[in-house]
Formats: sequence, C-alpha cells, structure tokens
Amino acid sequence: MEKINIAIAGTGNCASAFLQGVAKYSRSPGEAIGLMNHELGGYRPGDINVVAAFDIDERKVGKSLREALRAEPNCTSVFCEDIPDYPVTVKMAPVMDGVSGHMNEYPEHKTFVPSNREPCYVAEELKKSGAQLLLLYLPVGSEQAARFYAGACLEAGVGLINAIPVFIASEEKWARKFQEEGLPLVGDDIKGQMGATVIHRALARLFEDRGIVLDRTYQLNFGGNTDFLNMLNLERVTTKKESKTGAVQSELSSPLPSGNIHIGPSDYIPWLNDKKVCHITMEGRGYGGVPLTLEVKLTVEDSPNSGGVMIDAVRCARLALDRGTGGILTSISAYTMKSPPQQYTETEALEKVYQFLNGKIER
Ligand SMILES: NC(=O)c1ccc[n+]([C@@H]2O[C@H](COP(=O)([O-])OP(=O)(O)OC[C@H]3O[C@@H](n4cnc5c(N)ncnc54)[C@H](O)[C@@H]3O)[C@@H](O)[C@H]2O)c1
Repeated sequence: MEKINIAIAGTGNCASAFLQGVAKYSRSPGEAIGLMNHELGGYRPGDINVVAAFDIDERKVGKSLREALRAEPNCTSVFCEDIPDYPVTVKMAPVMDGVSGHMNEYPEHKTFVPSNREPCYVAEELKKSGAQLLLLYLPVGSEQAARFYAGACLEAGVGLINAIPVFIASEEKWARKFQEEGLPLVGDDIKGQMGATVIHRALARLFEDRGIVLDRTYQLNFGGNTDFLNMLNLERVTTKKESKTGAVQSELSSPLPSGNIHIGPSDYIPWLNDKKVCHITMEGRGYGGVPLTLEVKLTVEDSPNSGGVMIDAVRCARLALDRGTGGILTSISAYTMKSPPQQYTETEALEKVYQFLNGKIER
C-alpha cells in the first residue's frame, strides 16, 4: 500500500501519543488495542508517514520531530521509545493566537518558550513536503491560527483533520471550500477512544432507551497537562464547552435547559501531568417518577486516549482521497469528533463508518 503522507501542526502531547501508537502498531502486525481494526480501508498504521511539522516553541522549532515530541512541556507517558526518525525538522509557524497570555503566570511549569525565528510560509512548506493531510493539534482557543491552517490546506491542496474545538468542519463555508477543492475534511474536536464524551453520551442514550428522564447532569474534568493549563483561561474555552455540551445534548430527545447541564474543563492540577480525571453525575427519574442518581469517575491518560481515534480518521481521509471524495466526511467525523457537522448516536456512527469503508455511502 502507498504511504499516507501527513503534516502535523502542534507537536504537543497529542501528537506525541499519536505517533508513539503509530510506531508501536507498525511493528506489531494485527494488534489493534484502541483502534477499530489493525487494517482499515487497506491501510495499516505503519503506512502513516510524517512529512512536515509546525510549532512555535523554541524547544521544538528547528529540532527533529523525534526530539520535539520529547521536549518540554510535553508530559505524556512514553509507551513506545522508538518513534521512527522521520526526516522532518519542525518549522516555525505564525504564532497568531496559539498562546494564551496567562501561561506567563506559570513560569515554574516551563509552559512556553517563545521562538524568535521567522515564521515559514506554511502553504509552501505543505506543498514542498508532499503532505496529503494536515492534523491540527493546536491549543484550545486558537481560533485565528486554526482558520489560518485551514486556508493553508486549501492553498496547498491538502486535506484537513481538525482535532481541536474550533468550528471548521461544522461551518458550511469551510465545508464548501474543501468540497470545491476535492479535499477531505474531518472535524471538529477529537473524541477520546474511551473518553468523558463517549461515556457521557452512552449513558445519556441508556437513560433515553430505558425511559429514564434525565433532569440534570454535570461533567467535571481536570488534569495536569498544558491543555488543562491553557483552558484555565475561560475566554479560550467557550467553543470547547459548546462542543462537549452539544455532544451530550445530541443524545437526548429533548435537550436539557442550559441551567441543568454543565460540561467542561474544570481545573489544572500540575502533578497529574497527562492524567485526566473526569466526574460525571446524572440525576434523573425512573418508574413512578422516583429519583435516581448515577455517579461515574474516569481516570485516563489523556493524550493516548485520542491516538487510536486519529489513526482511524487519517486512514478514512486517505481513502476519501483515493476515491476522489472531497468535502466533509460525515461518517468518520461523527465517529471520531465531538462536534461533527452531522451528529449520530455512537452505534449509528460506527455503522456509517463501515458503510463508508465498504463504499456503500460516499462520505
Ligand atoms: N487529549 C485528548 O484526548 C484531546 C481530545 C480532544 C481534543 N484535544 C485537543 O487537541 C489539541 C492538542 O492537545 P495537546 O494535549 O497536544 O496540547 P499541547 O498544549 O500539548 O500541544 C499544543 C502544541 O501546539 C503548539 N502551537 C501553539 N500555537 C501554534 C501555532 N500557531 N502553530 C503551530 N503550533 C502551535 C504548542 O507550542 C504546542 O506544542 C488541544 O486543542 C486539545 O484540546 C485533545
């Protein structure tokens, strides 16, 4: 099979975990823990090949990708020591709104070291590298920067997988542009394989299916990685909250009033590093209107949790390129993203992905 040439914007924890998984599964034929299948649409994890990477932190820019992924402030667990030595040097990108000012208040956590290098011309670099897809892994709240990369993809003829809660795939304007250029678009805001969103959605569906009325719910999340530190700036998390709340509301036949549902990032606890803790509480009424309460606690290593999901999204996007299908890929977006343009239940989304893989539906 041909290689899937990808570029990565943001060489943080998610990129590190994703590429460790790619490396691990390249060397273990058939293994598919945390993936849909080892082989998907004819592609295996080992077919994924990184050809370009962008960042703005001095500890990463100008370094080999392998070095950058290990550099501070990345703190995800190392479960595969041996990431391939892709011949990729991390390029300096335009900073735009990629860094929140409040990061400076945490100097002891070495969260950001600005680089004085000249930013590269991203679209040109994408073209030169032969990238077919760009994976967007910028910090939450990078609204301008995310749109800048989407524009660069259109200019360079590269498909986009948007892992962050900036609405691109779910905005008609972008969907149309990618369709016109024949480039696949998957988004927005990646789900964990067994993350808070998937679990909360499954439980909301269970309430519905069992005739239980859900009256109130919350989902509190905290962790110790840069993503959680960044999200202490409440101005940056509006779309994240919208994305996470919408994902759960979409499972309910009548959405809860906004005062009865609270979902979002809740705090930063440095010593947790890349560990994320999630508490879900659901209050409802069962037979006879008698109240019940469900409490769930999930503890998970945050960044590897979305790695397998990304491997599946990349392979579906490459299959779309092979078939000449541009624009939104509705099925894999619904399966892998919190805010897809078209929401389905988790079960329906999985069925749609298999229909897409078998060529029964176009997208
Ligand atoms: N961990 C998960 O399971 C999960 C789930 C859903 C969404 N996400 C989202 O994925 C994104 C990445 O998460 P992460 O944990 O890797 O974050 P991170 O903070 O570890 O990494 C972000 C990287 O982007 C770089 N960056 C900032 N501005 C940039 C720019 N203009 N151009 C290029 N690079 C830039 C930073 O220097 C950093 O290296 C976040 O938005 C996060 O919310 C993660």
